[in-house]
Parts: sequence; C-alpha cells; structure tokens
Amino acid sequence: MIELDAVHYAWPDAPPALDGISLTVREGEKLVLLGANGCGKSTLLKLMNGLVAPQAGRLLYQGEEVTPARLKQGAFARRFRSEVVLLFQHPEAMLFNPTVRDEIAYGPRRLGLPDAEARVARWAAALRLEALLDKAPFSLSGGQKQKVALAAILALEPRLLLLDEPAANLDPWASGWLVDFLLDCGKTVVTSTHNLSMATELGERALVLGEGGRVLFDGALTKALRDPALLETANLVHRHRHRHGSSFEHAHPHTHDWK
Ligand SMILES: Nc1ncnc2c1ncn2[C@@H]1O[C@H](COP(=O)(O)OP(=O)(O)OP(=O)(O)O)[C@@H](O)[C@H]1O
Ligand SMILES: [Mg+2]
Repeated sequence: MIELDAVHYAWPDAPPALDGISLTVREGEKLVLLGANGCGKSTLLKLMNGLVAPQAGRLLYQGEEVTPARLKQGAFARRFRSEVVLLFQHPEAMLFNPTVRDEIAYGPRRLGLPDAEARVARWAAALRLEALLDKAPFSLSGGQKQKVALAAILALEPRLLLLDEPAANLDPWASGWLVDFLLDCGKTVVTSTHNLSMATELGERALVLGEGGRVLFDGALTKALRDPALLETANLVHRHRHRHGSSFEHAHPHTHDWK
C-alpha cells in the first residue's frame, strides 16, 4: 500500500526528524507508531500523506512514487487525496468550514462525489454527531472536534487511514467506537499513540521511533510491549519515585497504563 525507502526529512534549521526510514505497509495491515515526544511520528504521518516530501529517499503509494510534482497532476492527486487521509494530532488545524455539516461534506464535495449529503448523514450517525450538524466547528469541545475531524476523513471512505493520536481527546464510548471500527473496516491503518494499553487495540505491528527519527523496532507489537529495554530506550516507560507508607521509597521504570 505504502512504501518508504531510506527516507530523510528535516524541518528548516532543525536536525533530522526522519533519518533513513525504510518501511513497507501492506494492504489491510494495521501499524502502530510508538515513540516519545518529538521523535518524528507526526512528521512521518504527514510525509505518508504527501504534505511534506522526502529530502532524500522515496515514498511510494501502490508502487508509484509520490513527489510534489506528481501531486500536482490532476488524476494522481485526486486518487491519492481520496484514498489517503490524515487525521491531524490537533484537529482544529483541519476544521475551517462554517458548520459541522459542511465540514464533513467538504472532502466529498471537493472530489465532486454525488452523494456528499448521504455521506454526511451516514458518518454523523455513526459518530453520534447529528445534534451538532448545524453548529460551528470552532464552538465544539476538544473531543467533539476530534469526532468531527474523524467523520470528515471517513466520509471520503479512504483506503489508507493515517491517524495521529486519534483517541487523545475521545471519551470511552468514542474510543471504543474507533477501536471497533478499525477492527472491522478492513482498511490499511497507521496510528500513532502514546497510550500503550490501547496500542494492542489499534494494530498488530509496531514501529518504534527513537531520538532523531530512527527506527528502533519494527515487528510484532506484543513483542515490543514486552521488551523493557526497548521501551526504556524509546522513553516509553518512565522512572519516578514511589512512596510506600512513610518509611520506604524506591524508583523503577514503569508505565502508568501497561503492565
Ligand atoms: N512544523 C514544524 N516546524 C519545525 N519543526 C517541526 C515542525 N513539526 C515538527 N518539528 C520538529 O520535528 C521533530 C519531530 O516532531 P514530530 O511532531 O514529528 O514529533 P512527534 O513524535 O509527533 O511528537 P509528539 O509525541 O509530541 O506528537 C521535533 O523536533 C519537532 O520540533
Ligand atoms: Mg505528534
């Protein structure tokens, strides 16, 4: 579905955010991106979405190289933009339409799809957003915005879903809905998360990024989660002091959500 071949990317005046990433994601695969703050997860998702271009190496979508020039060509751009979608880590960045209804309809309308209204109805119902359809997206709560942003990308019925911390603002019902949807949808999904206890619900394969945008691990998620040395190197577990009563204090690495 998507392939990266020795991809490098550095933001202006910054050290590499992605440093020689090679990766193949097959159709139907569910990949979970793990790594500490600033290790390059969002940059990698933006690159897979064609929003930033590799400065060295190559990005391929279904065997075809994705370049800024190629993304200016109508037919390819249209296919790529309808099949590959990114849910931004901060959904406010995606929301700019006057109403939730227009926000969800925006992508299908832009692609000239005849059933935009039906898609709005379908995804608003799925995510229980019907009561919000005439509201302005900026007036919504953080979690409501996240659900609208999710509905807006799902309305495109894409083939490759790129989700950047999708459950960060969601309540338990919406997180559960998302997990069920991802399990059943049969789509290819790449999801970043810091939530190690939820990671196993999001996919079966992990890509763990370390400092400077290097791959520390690519393989079975359960294997990564049972590797304390890897988790500590990747700063996915933390060390802080515990008090037991008044007399005993000790420190050891652990997470707060994964045993
Ligand atoms: N728009 C930008 N302009 C300049 N530098 C950026 C930009 N976005 C990210 N960076 C830098 O690139 C590096 C990787 O950032 P990125 O947002 O990809 O990390 P992340 O793994 O998603 O972190 P987090 O867990 O905090 O979301 C960081 O050093 C960051 O400062
Ligand atoms: Mg990020």
